Amino acid sequence: MANAECKDSADPREPCGTENLDIVLRSRLAEASMVLRRSCLRCERPLKAAWLAGPIGTMCGALCVLMLAVPVEGQTKPAPEPAPDATKAGPTASMLQLMRGVFFPTANMIFNVQTHDPAQKKSAADAPNPQVFNWVQWGGSLYSGWEDVDYAATVLAEVTPLLLVPGRTCDNGKPVPVERADWVKFTNEMLQAARKSVAAAKSRNQEAVSDSTNDLTDACMACHRVYRDRRPPGAERVSPAASSLRCTVP
Ligand code: HEC
Repeated sequence: MANAECKDSADPREPCGTENLDIVLRSRLAEASMVLRRSCLRCERPLKAAWLAGPIGTMCGALCVLMLAVPVEGQTKPAPEPAPDATKAGPTASMLQLMRGVFFPTANMIFNVQTHDPAQKKSAADAPNPQVFNWVQWGGSLYSGWEDVDYAATVLAEVTPLLLVPGRTCDNGKPVPVERADWVKFTNEMLQAARKSVAAAKSRNQEAVSDSTNDLTDACMACHRVYRDRRPPGAERVSPAASSLRCTVP
């Protein structure tokens, strides 16, 4: 039950009601026991001397030993924070968001190597204008071209197993068929292709990375052919109906 003070209290966190009173009392007790513990710690040495001095000293010493042994409420070691588990946390992104947010941009950075030598110095056009914060160009000149390719390829490989996380849906609401053998196979091929690009980027050889993009294209297309690009007969390419078969089994 709330008391009168509660209504007048300017601070909404101010404790009120019997439940809160209990909390207040308990915290006061904990405070008092903390003070005792602290004074015990402070007088530990003199008490040791008192121990030798006689029965009162012995009693006092025993009390202090007890006090120090009892853990104070709120002072006990907190339970360790459970480590996040990507597979148990459940997905945040839809399939479409994962594709547009990570697969598309990272793969494009690798495909770019076909026509652009990452060893070349970035042009002035790549450099952000210091006068204007431009979220598109931001960071564009922070790392070298080869580093950018490294990051794109490693991230693509790293996120590929997320295609198997249960609970994700396509944008049309259909569940991603993570348990189907062909889906798992497409995902494995994607991972292998991305890892091939990682290795090729390490060699710092433009030709090798260009070659690795063939595998990448194959891996993207193999899955798309079955789970992205099928359309009901007569559905326009850009109409919502066009995506109604995504994530569904043929
Ligand atoms: C294991 C299957 C699979 C793999 C591998 C895969 N995709 Fe996808 N992709 C899909 C599905 C399914 C959709 C449809 C998502 C939706 O509508 O929610 C999609 C959608 C997309 C889209 C969005 C299309 C739109 O409508 O805007 C892009 C872009 C895309 N993928 C790029 C890629 C690229 C690039 C790769 C390879 C590097 C790739 N995907 C690999 C299954 C896959």
